[in-house]
Amino acid sequence: MNPPSAPHPPSSVEVLFSPAEFASLAARDLSQTTCVVFDVLRATSTMITALAHGATAIIPVATIAEALAVRARQPDVLLGGERHGRRIRAALSGGVDFDLGNSPREYTAENVRDRTIAMTTTNGTRALRACAPAGAVVIGSLLNLRATAARFQEEKPRHLLMVCSGTGEGPAWEDTLAAGALCDRLAVSGREGDWDDSAFIARAIWQEARGRLADTLIRSRNARRLREIPELREDVAFCLQVDRFDFVAGMDRTGAVRK
Ligand code: MLT
Repeated sequence: MNPPSAPHPPSSVEVLFSPAEFASLAARDLSQTTCVVFDVLRATSTMITALAHGATAIIPVATIAEALAVRARQPDVLLGGERHGRRIRAALSGGVDFDLGNSPREYTAENVRDRTIAMTTTNGTRALRACAPAGAVVIGSLLNLRATAARFQEEKPRHLLMVCSGTGEGPAWEDTLAAGALCDRLAVSGREGDWDDSAFIARAIWQEARGRLADTLIRSRNARRLREIPELREDVAFCLQVDRFDFVAGMDRTGAVRK
């Protein structure tokens, strides 16, 4: 007797740990792939917070010049983002002070409700742009992990590729942990069959650190960098909140990030 056929094709799950791996994306056919991009400290956490507080959309762009070009076309957009962790100032942009940095705590309802934000950050927006050819692009963070996992359990994407924005050209502990946390939540649905080793590695790292996230990540390079900047040190604890928000966000075909 044949086994009953599965109601959905099996999913594969893979994790890219670092920007050094983004280059390979251009050579891959991502049309049937759902990418989840993580920049826990802080770009994707900031985007989720902005949307939670009523922002209409975020337009992630790789460079300062591209952000300024968006503003030239749409004068109402806010400019957001960072270089070296700090808000982009006129000296760096050729004359324009950005409205917002990359601290999620700046993206309050008062600052962003009903606004579109053109945002450029060092790694996070670069990772998002690298995933633009994918069938779907989802914004990953710890802040809305449960909602994201629930969406995937419901929609059962065939190929799930978790893309960690990393630090410099290397991996970032917090992004790996968040990807591992999502793997862990999806594993409940028994879809491990086609998982890549990278997914098992990320999941194992999460399982080892869960319950003592802040103590673990205090040693991460990004957390140490942010904690050295007095006005940004609280961002670390903010971004490590798990399941604070209950919605999913993605990047659409126009390149805009929305709920
Ligand atoms: C990035 O995009 O590299 C990070 O979000 C940087 C930061 O938060 O300072």
